[in-house]
Amino acid sequence: MGKQARAIVDLSLKDLIKDLNKAYCDEWLAYYLYWYMAQAVSGRGYEDMAEFLNKIAKDELEHATELADLIIKLGDMPIANPMEIEKNANSPYMMPPKNTADYNRIIRIVTEAEAGAIDVYNKIAKKTLGKDNVTYQLVTHILAEEVTHEEMFENLLER
Ligand SMILES: [Fe+2]
Ligand SMILES: [Fe+2]
Repeated sequence: MGKQARAIVDLSLKDLIKDLNKAYCDEWLAYYLYWYMAQAVSGRGYEDMAEFLNKIAKDELEHATELADLIIKLGDMPIANPMEIEKNANSPYMMPPKNTADYNRIIRIVTEAEAGAIDVYNKIAKKTLGKDNVTYQLVTHILAEEVTHEEMFENLLER
């Protein structure tokens, strides 16, 4: 982003980048968790669950990529050290279930993580509305995908 692009951001760039970096950490944790559960899941119909989890994991990695790109555009850098990822995330890493065939637990973990993500992006969207339209556009795009994720898994629970 050039000088003027940064100058039109009508809020503290430092705070904004901090929020974006925290969300970036959340995305890595979500990606790792979903990817891990996709590898580990067992039991009847495990292939469908693995496919579901892998699909969402891919979206979370894409979100991390989009956030990294925006942080760099804003003139900063995403967190480089993986040891710092959990420390800087909005919520701690949720452990996958020990029982790898416990679908209800998997679904609950995912819906809880998605609910957290919805809150985070909703807050950033409110903060940036009319103040930083580029960030607003990205976070509302991600927010819409998190809403879809929550719904996909909530539907599984209702079955
Ligand atoms: Fe995400
Ligand atoms: Fe998600």
